[in-house]
Parts: sequence; structure tokens; C-alpha cells
Amino acid sequence: MYMPTVRLPGLIDPHVHLRDPGQTEKEDFYTGTAAALAGGFSAIVDMPNNKVPITTKEKLEEKQKTASTQIVCDLGFYFGSMGDNLDEFDKVKGKVLGLKLYLNQTTGNFLLDKKHLSEIFECWPEELPILFHAEEQTFDDVLDIVKQHPRKVHLCHMSTAYELKRVIEAKDKGLPVTCGVTPHHLFLSEKHFKQYGVFAMMRPPLRPQVDVDFLWENLASIDLIESDHAPHTLEEKNSDNPPNGIPGLETTLPLLLTAVSQDALTIEDVVRLCHTGPKTVFGIDQGPDTYIEIDPEEEYVIDQSKMQSKSKWTPFNGWKMKGKLLRITLHGKKVFDAGKITAEAGFGQLLTKDKSIEEDS
Ligand code: DOR
Ligand code: ZN
Repeated sequence: MYMPTVRLPGLIDPHVHLRDPGQTEKEDFYTGTAAALAGGFSAIVDMPNNKVPITTKEKLEEKQKTASTQIVCDLGFYFGSMGDNLDEFDKVKGKVLGLKLYLNQTTGNFLLDKKHLSEIFECWPEELPILFHAEEQTFDDVLDIVKQHPRKVHLCHMSTAYELKRVIEAKDKGLPVTCGVTPHHLFLSEKHFKQYGVFAMMRPPLRPQVDVDFLWENLASIDLIESDHAPHTLEEKNSDNPPNGIPGLETTLPLLLTAVSQDALTIEDVVRLCHTGPKTVFGIDQGPDTYIEIDPEEEYVIDQSKMQSKSKWTPFNGWKMKGKLLRITLHGKKVFDAGKITAEAGFGQLLTKDKSIEEDS
């Protein structure tokens, strides 16, 4: 049978929450990186809002040690701060790809008071970006501080026309800011929240269609796509106090390839947003022996029960897709083929400049 195969560089998702250590009932390093491979990502970067936040070198190294024997794709890390760990910054600079700050309440009680911002901007190593979760009024606080103290800042998950307009203005003025958008803010709007309820509940929330349209119209000003893969168990989502967040690693590429088949964007846009963009912003280079192969013509339906992620649910369940991942080659070895993970746990590499993980003495 004739099968048109297209080869693309390995995709990179610079924004995932793998929950390991601390909440491995939601996801762990093996299932999270297996979900990445099943979604076409050869590298992902994990956020620090674990149950015990990653704000010390000790916690970070503990996390990296566990990850190193479990991961099936490459994995990088961000460090976290609530303003009380500035003396740890220099100790972790070869071990992480950036610093993530939360100016709004989110999973894991990890809120930073903005009074700490200028000190953090002074102390965090200049060469590494600072990433922000900043919604609504805190968004302007970030742009104000970047104006006073220009340094590499990445604004996570643009969801409104207002935010993206302000980023475009900042870029036009030459400020060193980049921004990302999630697939759910591109493919869902607030009407889907009414339809899917807690399974479409996340921070930032789904927005009105005018905002969604503005994101699509200004895709050229967006640097990258980030899934914000935020797995939670079905039980938690069905509880009286459902947490925010949805899994995204296994639906991002299918949604984008389907949009390519509908001429909403091009395959070159997908490569820019899911490979070149994150590679450039976070300095991730996996080399030429890492690539994925897709069949842009294959049609299928998303089946949540087949997901590698522990969260066997997605608001996109049952959606008709066109364009499927066939294989992934990571560092010259086939790690995903015909729906199956073919890599041993631990084959993935830690994306750190400093490879040493100090043993407990
Ligand atoms: O919806 C979200 N879930 N937004 C966040 O900022 C955090 C994430 C999570 O960790 O569950
Ligand atoms: Zn997030």
C-alpha cells in the first residue's frame, strides 16, 4: 500500500507537568515521557510545581535522579521560586533551562508575591530565561518589570487578544520577550467549557471566540506551542473540588496536523512552533539523529482509552483527526513505532549542561 511519509525534526514541548515526585497517581516520569513520544515529542521540559515545589538544588537533583532511570524521551527542567531561595540560583544554573514564576494561583500553592520580582530579576543567571504564568492584571506587571530590567522573559499560554497585543507591542519596542500558546486555547473556546465542564477547565481558562480568532490571526507573532500537559485523575476531576488542567501531550500534534489538512496553517508553521521555536527559546538541540515520521493522510478518531498518559481522558475524545504519527527516532534509535513505545525506561537523556547529579553523602 502506498503510504506518504513525511519526516520532521523531533518536536519539543517546553511546558509539561509530569507530577513526579509527589503525585505519581496523576502521572510519572515513565508515563509522562511515553505520552510525549506517542504525541510526537522527542523532548519536553517539566515545570517545578510538584507537590513539594522544586525550589532547592537538593529537590531538583532528587527529581533528576528519579527521572534519569525512567524517561523514554529527553527531559529538561525548570526551577521555581517564591522569592525565598535566591541563594540557590547559582547552584542550579547548569541543571535547568529556566526559572518558572507563578503570579496567579495554580495547582500546588506556588504563588509569588510581585514584590520579589526585581530581586529575582537581579539574581537569576542572565543566560537563562524567566517564564511567567501571569494572567490579567499580573500580565502588565511582568511587562513593566521587563521594561525596567530587560532580560529574556517567556510569557506562557497567551489566551486573550489583550495579552497578545501587549506582547506584540513589547516585541516591536525591542524587548526580549517571547510567548507561547496552548493547543486548547487554539482549538477550544468558552463554549466548549459549557459542553465539557471540568474536562475543559484549566488556567488560564477557555476564552470567547474573538480571542481565539485573534490568536489564529496572529500566529506569526507567537514563538511556540506549549501543551501545558496537566494530568489529573478522573476521580479528582469528578470531585467537588476539581483541579485545573488537562492533558495535552497526545492531542497537540493530531490537532495541528488536522488543522494543516484544513489549510488553517502549514506544516512549516508546525515545525516552527513545535521545534524551531522551543529549540531557540530554551536552547535545546537534539541533533540530526532525532526525528519523527508522520502520515499526513491517515484519518482516525481520538480514543482516550489508548492514551499513554495515566489520565485516560481528554476533551478531544472522539474528535476526527487527519494526519498521524508513525515513528520516532531518538538519538538514532527507534523509540516509538506503530503505536508502541520501543525504548527502554532510562533511554531518554536529561537536558542539562551539567550532567553530574551529586550523590547523598
Ligand atoms: O490548568 C493548569 N494546570 N494551569 C496551571 O497553571 C497549572 C496546571 C497544573 O499544574 O495542573
Ligand atoms: Zn502549566
